[in-house]
Amino acid sequence: MNKLAFITGSTKRIGKHLAEVLAKNGYSLILHYNTSDLKARILARDLEISFPQQHFYTSGFDLSNWKLSGAYFRNLVKKFPVPNLIIHNASEYLSGKMRETSIEMMEKMMGIHFFSPFFISQEFVKLTDRGEVIAIVDAQVVGNDTSHAAYLASKKSLTDFIKMSAVEWAPNFRVNGIAPGPVLPPENSESEYFNQVVNNTPLKSQVSLESISSAVLYLINNKSVTGQIMFCDSGQHLIQK
Ligand SMILES: NC(=O)c1ccc[n+]([C@@H]2O[C@H](COP(=O)([O-])OP(=O)(O)OC[C@H]3O[C@@H](n4cnc5c(N)ncnc54)[C@H](OP(=O)(O)O)[C@@H]3O)[C@@H](O)[C@H]2O)c1
Repeated sequence: MNKLAFITGSTKRIGKHLAEVLAKNGYSLILHYNTSDLKARILARDLEISFPQQHFYTSGFDLSNWKLSGAYFRNLVKKFPVPNLIIHNASEYLSGKMRETSIEMMEKMMGIHFFSPFFISQEFVKLTDRGEVIAIVDAQVVGNDTSHAAYLASKKSLTDFIKMSAVEWAPNFRVNGIAPGPVLPPENSESEYFNQVVNNTPLKSQVSLESISSAVLYLINNKSVTGQIMFCDSGQHLIQK
């Protein structure tokens, strides 16, 4: 299969949109989920109906269980073909200042956003001879706002991982990142705060889902780009403190 993507956290919001756009662009998909088993199966079924020539698999794994993430990926490719594109999208936006950050919170954030993407990507480059990795980070990685301290530290680590692995794994692998600004308010959160964040961006506009998916397509198609972090953020990173 020459176009197969593995997308983490693919069943809703940004991940689901990316799955739908990649499917439209001819990709078969391994739809990863954590708790959204049913949503994953429904999405796979809907995509199979729309794109009957392609394949849509589902696979569940808790990425905070990071010590098993490499083994998870090795087992995954015993069941399904090896993908040629990985999108590290899954996330949890835990709040808490540095003083309030427990070992468990830090390990969970690093597990989901850094250790699991690291060890899954490492397995990927061992298991195949060429491919692409795209990690979704956050426009806030250029700042030092500590309201979500463990989350931000883990996304900063992921950002450096993109650049380091782009060097080590070239020339056969390209590794890039996308740093979204305000796309969707966190689930169950006040939209007032989100609107304030949007209005504080230089462009004063919510980032569209299409802005993220068009960046993904650009990164896939432009074979000269690696180690790049594309800020799709209405300019939010320019005013980070
Ligand atoms: N939304 C924004 O405006 C925004 C802004 C900046 C950056 N971003 C970044 O863009 C990406 C997508 O954002 P989003 O808001 O669409 O994400 P989200 O809805 O918060 O989370 C996406 C998925 O992550 C999965 N996930 C959470 N914990 C997991 C775990 N322990 N193991 C495996 N999967 C887990 C969930 O899967 P299940 O549902 O299966 O449990 C969830 O569906 C994230 O990387 C986020 O940091 C988003």
